[in-house]
Amino acid sequence: MKNKRMILKLSEKYNSFYLYDGQIIQNSIDTLKNSFEDVQFLYSAKTNPHREIVKKVVENGFGIDAASFGEVLLAQANGLGADKIYYSTPGKTQQDIEGAADKAVIIADSFSEIKMIDEIAAEKGIKLQIGVRINPDFTFDADKGVSAKYGIDEEAFFAHKDWIKSLENTEIIGIHVHSKSQELRGDVIAAYHRKMFALCKKVEQQLDIKLKFVNLGSGIGIPFAEEDIPVDVAKLGAETSQAIKQFKAEMGDIKVLIETGRYVCGKSGIYATKVLDKKYSRGITFVILSSTLNGFVRPSLAAMVEGYAQGIPAANEPFYTKPDAFGYTVIKKGEETTKTETVTLCGNLCTAADLIEKSITLPELEIGDIITMDNAGCYAAVMTPFQFSSHIPPREIFINENGEIVE
Ligand SMILES: Cc1ncc(COP(=O)(O)O)c(C=O)c1O
Repeated sequence: MKNKRMILKLSEKYNSFYLYDGQIIQNSIDTLKNSFEDVQFLYSAKTNPHREIVKKVVENGFGIDAASFGEVLLAQANGLGADKIYYSTPGKTQQDIEGAADKAVIIADSFSEIKMIDEIAAEKGIKLQIGVRINPDFTFDADKGVSAKYGIDEEAFFAHKDWIKSLENTEIIGIHVHSKSQELRGDVIAAYHRKMFALCKKVEQQLDIKLKFVNLGSGIGIPFAEEDIPVDVAKLGAETSQAIKQFKAEMGDIKVLIETGRYVCGKSGIYATKVLDKKYSRGITFVILSSTLNGFVRPSLAAMVEGYAQGIPAANEPFYTKPDAFGYTVIKKGEETTKTETVTLCGNLCTAADLIEKSITLPELEIGDIITMDNAGCYAAVMTPFQFSSHIPPREIFINENGEIVE
């Protein structure tokens, strides 16, 4: 990391700041490129969309793993064509798909997305070549699938193969799976890559098509704690390159994509924060730093989860009050319903942490219905990390005493 003097110099100007080390990023890029043969890497823009980092990965030949339409535009602004931008996330809107149709390879996340893509393509009078995110019947650790908000269950995908093949304006040319993050066991990642090639073979055989790409997703972890042992990327690269060779020899050419996830820049940055005050109170010395939770939220979250596990919610206020602190109300777009269903409520970020209710019984929901959440007047917008994944932030709207909307 940069020298101490530089950090101290910067801290004269800034109370808190991030510092990203381009050399460390270049080293990670070189390790990936030197370890894997015949792989197109996609930089996961959501890990850090800083302009210099994006510029660097693009200069190094990487494409972009885009998790929102905003990231598709970011990739395009960096000179990438549709062949190097892969757009995958749950919950794409019609505007997202219309906007991305000629800028990226869209990876459909559900049957309704495939249908929407087909309708948009028909409207535009074009045939769209897309990928499909599959929720495979295996994980990193087991030969059995789990339920997930991402992708289409493998068995459902095969069960609908005739419908998929009957689409007039959509052609499936690739598959995408991202099954796990922060895996430090290289042999487990290599085994997962082999399972992915077996899945490709199955898709090609069952649908009687030739895939143009397979996106293996991400998963290579980085050491966080001292005891964490880094992945031997050279060994992993050699094993996966061998699996690629074998697949191609048997099944013909295919473009192999790997999303770089946290690997490229995770170890490149430090967050520096200045001590603003220090005081002693009844046996404890308090050090007051500049912008911790609101500058680099993860250490605060770690402390929060620990506090939660110990059953002390008050210490986590205003982040955490109690599990049932937010009432949900369903507003139906169409007719009211008396039917109820038990669902998981989650959002459109590519992280399993983006979940608000694991199991809640609500009136049956349809696309277009609204859910409102109570108690969002304070400590809500102000505490939310809006920038993550470059989504358009929620608008904040005020209604005055006259009932007028003030934006
Ligand atoms: C599809 C997809 N690609 C890449 C990533 C980022 O990779 P990583 O979690 O290994 O940093 C994620 C993260 O959730 C993801 O969902």
